[in-house]
Amino acid sequence: MELTTLTGLKGTISVPGDKSISHRSIMLGSIAKGKTEITHFLNGADCLATIDCFRKLGVAIEERDSSITVHGNGLYGLLPPNDILQVKNSGTTTRLMAGILAGQSFDSKISGDESLNARPMRRIIAPLTQMGANISSILRNDCAPLYITKGHLQGIHYQSPVASAQVKSCILLAGLYADGETSVTEPILSRNHTELMLKEFGANIKTTHQLAGSETTSTISPCEELYGQKICVPGDISSAAYFIAAGLLVSDSEILIKNVGINPTRAGILKVCEDMGGNISLLNERIECGEHIADILVKTSKLYGTTIQGDIIPALIDEIPIIAVMAACAEGTTVIRDAAELKVKETDRIETITDNLRAMGCDITPTDDGMIIQGGTLHGAIIHTLLDHRIAMAFSIAALVAKGTTKILNSHCIDVSYPTFYDTFEELL
Ligand code: S3P
Repeated sequence: MELTTLTGLKGTISVPGDKSISHRSIMLGSIAKGKTEITHFLNGADCLATIDCFRKLGVAIEERDSSITVHGNGLYGLLPPNDILQVKNSGTTTRLMAGILAGQSFDSKISGDESLNARPMRRIIAPLTQMGANISSILRNDCAPLYITKGHLQGIHYQSPVASAQVKSCILLAGLYADGETSVTEPILSRNHTELMLKEFGANIKTTHQLAGSETTSTISPCEELYGQKICVPGDISSAAYFIAAGLLVSDSEILIKNVGINPTRAGILKVCEDMGGNISLLNERIECGEHIADILVKTSKLYGTTIQGDIIPALIDEIPIIAVMAACAEGTTVIRDAAELKVKETDRIETITDNLRAMGCDITPTDDGMIIQGGTLHGAIIHTLLDHRIAMAFSIAALVAKGTTKILNSHCIDVSYPTFYDTFEELL
């Protein structure tokens, strides 16, 4: 994709359904009794991989554009797959589904693409093994492909060293099949869509926040069945983030983004934009299907450098590529700390952000757990996405404010989470 400078992005848009919630709606719908009807489902490659895997596990799933009906098999009704479960690029499918599969009485194998098969799986293998699961890394490198055979699960208390929703969700889902209570404590609350949705489906789950400090514990105990639900998936704030940044950075712009999920465990970017001086307002705030939703109005603003660290990091981890682009266009220095998890995303994002911002002329210093960015002027460049969808989208926005032409290599990787990304732009021209 080749892009050049733009001005005056104006209009009202909506973004596709939330990726995290879309995955979970298929998974919980599949192991619930009865029908789950999902609207505004994200038809991105990651979530389609989840549908494909659960079909292989014997679940009937009907698709009509972004409306999906899952005919759930009940908690104990999944069937042995005939084939390896192919998760493609999706870490969420891998780690959450592994929690469910650990509780089944049949064997299964999970594998993905080159990037997925290089991501760390010890973080789920260790706690699942502690619960009594039989799960191994086939190549013995602590990565997928994974092999899961019948085990007998016992509830555990797991103190997670990382604030990871995928790890937490994996253990809680396995907890549905364990004897006794299963709980997970994480150092900082990560996205809580699994807990909210499990509650809607009728699971016995509760979350407690420690009075002092940021630790949070979620506890689940087995139930007889989960029950199918109607789920309206909110717009994905991680997708809205690119248009928030475009609205702030591109001169003479005003963009209204409708129906965006602003769950506090996801909305860190809004606080950062405010701290940077961004003109953003939330309109029409409401709760639907247990999730906070709002329309977001963004107007062109002068941005200033800021420091981003500590408890807010899990609430904006996927937005750091686009935040880095905003920082590169802001006045002053931006420091990002406590974000070492960036190294184990679809790419090592500390590296991919640094290399591509440098190519655009930005003064950026990578650190062990983040980066230091000096704001300035960006210049068109060739962007190496390394097939990371968020790098492709973040640098597409950078291209709109850079001097000259920018070429985004392998921009098709955007299909993972936002197949209509460039079409949404057309609506703003
Ligand atoms: C996700 C959790 C986060 C996030 C990922 C989606 C989820 O990963 O980065 O894009 O849906 O649970 P971690 O759990 O590894 O932090």
